[in-house]
Amino acid sequence: MVRLVPGGCQSLNCLERRRDVDAPLTLLGWANIIESGVEANPAQGEASVRAQRVTAIYPGSFDPPTNGHLDLIERGSKIFDQLVVAILRNPEKKESLFTIEERVEMLREVTRGCSNVEVESFNGLLVDYAVRRQARVILRGLRAISDYENEMNMALMNRKLDPNLETVFMMPAVAYTFLSSRLVREVVQLGGDIRGLVPPIVEERLRTKV
Ligand SMILES: Nc1ncnc2c1ncn2[C@@H]1O[C@H](COP(=O)(O)OP(=O)(O)OP(=O)(O)O)[C@@H](O)[C@H]1O
Ligand SMILES: [Mg+2]
Repeated sequence: MVRLVPGGCQSLNCLERRRDVDAPLTLLGWANIIESGVEANPAQGEASVRAQRVTAIYPGSFDPPTNGHLDLIERGSKIFDQLVVAILRNPEKKESLFTIEERVEMLREVTRGCSNVEVESFNGLLVDYAVRRQARVILRGLRAISDYENEMNMALMNRKLDPNLETVFMMPAVAYTFLSSRLVREVVQLGGDIRGLVPPIVEERLRTKV
């Protein structure tokens, strides 16, 4: 019988051990360099090490912002130097519940404690906006397999449009894997309870919409 041992960190232990011995710089040296926030440029040789800040854009409709979005923002803000939460002025999504300005306000309010997070809206192509913001990363959430196909198509299209832009996916806490703005809108409109699924200030504003 195979017994599952909690804390499956064997490979991590192995990585730690290998760091002590003569690990090849190509793999583990890079990890150390990235950890220290400095990136080496192989094209310019080992001596050229330059500091580089990484800005990521987290785009979406956020209509309304949910605790799933906040979970992703918190995770993203820990690994990127700057995280820009960018609300797309999306002509395809005509039936919005909150105006863009209301969404910007709510997201600014709930991310006030995160010094490296900013919130704004944008028009047009995400890749053009990323260039304007000097961002190299797009952050997206993956809740379930159902997100995968659409997200993969978007990521590959964005890569085609700008090969320098990398899409990074993060998974939320399990409790939020079923949560979407669309479901929140539907539940609220039918009088259901959405406590714990959205931040309290969003909950208050949702009450004024029904
Ligand atoms: N609960 C969640 N957990 C993790 N990621 C999420 C969650 N909800 C949304 N996201 C991610 O946030 C980004 C922006 O999504 P979006 O604004 O479309 O939210 P949504 O909940 O999918 O809204 P809608 O239902 O209106 O499409 C996407 O990458 C999406 O995968
Ligand atoms: Mg969506």
